Amino acid sequence: MLVNETLQVIKQRRSIRSFRTEQIKEEELQAVLEAGLYAPHAGDQAWHFTVVQDRALLGRLNAVAKEAAMPLGMAHLRELASDEQFDCLYGAPTLIVVSGDEQSPIPLDADCAAATQNMLIAAESVGLGSCWVFFVTLSFHSPQGTELRQELRIPQGYKPYYAAVFGYKKGAAVRASPQRPNLITYIR
Ligand SMILES: Cc1cc2nc3c(=O)[nH]c(=O)nc-3n(C[C@H](O)[C@H](O)[C@H](O)COP(=O)(O)O)c2cc1C
Repeated sequence: MLVNETLQVIKQRRSIRSFRTEQIKEEELQAVLEAGLYAPHAGDQAWHFTVVQDRALLGRLNAVAKEAAMPLGMAHLRELASDEQFDCLYGAPTLIVVSGDEQSPIPLDADCAAATQNMLIAAESVGLGSCWVFFVTLSFHSPQGTELRQELRIPQGYKPYYAAVFGYKKGAAVRASPQRPNLITYIR
């Protein structure tokens, strides 16, 4: 099996759910953002990244997302949301929200997903932990959603598709789940 640094970083990356409180360095943040900007896109870079490092705002996003999860009728989400200790951002000091221009003729969710994934890989490569967090995006669909989008200065007409948290890893290393068999078909 071929091995190189890029392949190793891709395989090493895991979702991290425990972070040290200290903020990441500016150069690390910029490296992560730049990796996002270099992702493939069908929509002519019709995306926008919002970096949130304000602790109070991160706390509010968590609280609103949990509130929004309660009525959704999904037992797993409701269970998490009703746990007072649960922080959907896992205490991470940095959140990046990836939004896409809803006016774009091309569906942008794939572009935004590609950018998000690039950022996760870049984070691992510079020694940061990260986790893709769908949960927090529930906050944008709550009654406070419009106000939050404004507060995050998400451009008018842009939809926040994805979000991920970043920080220094805390605790034991996370192991990858075993790979399910038969996920690849070869036709040669
Ligand atoms: C679209 C998407 C949404 C996700 N949302 C969450 C989330 O809200 N909370 C969370 O803890 N992990 C979330 N994850 C992370 C997955 O749980 C994780 O990637 C998966 O279990 C595989 O583990 P790994 O990332 O360590 O390889 C999400 C992943 C994706 C791709």
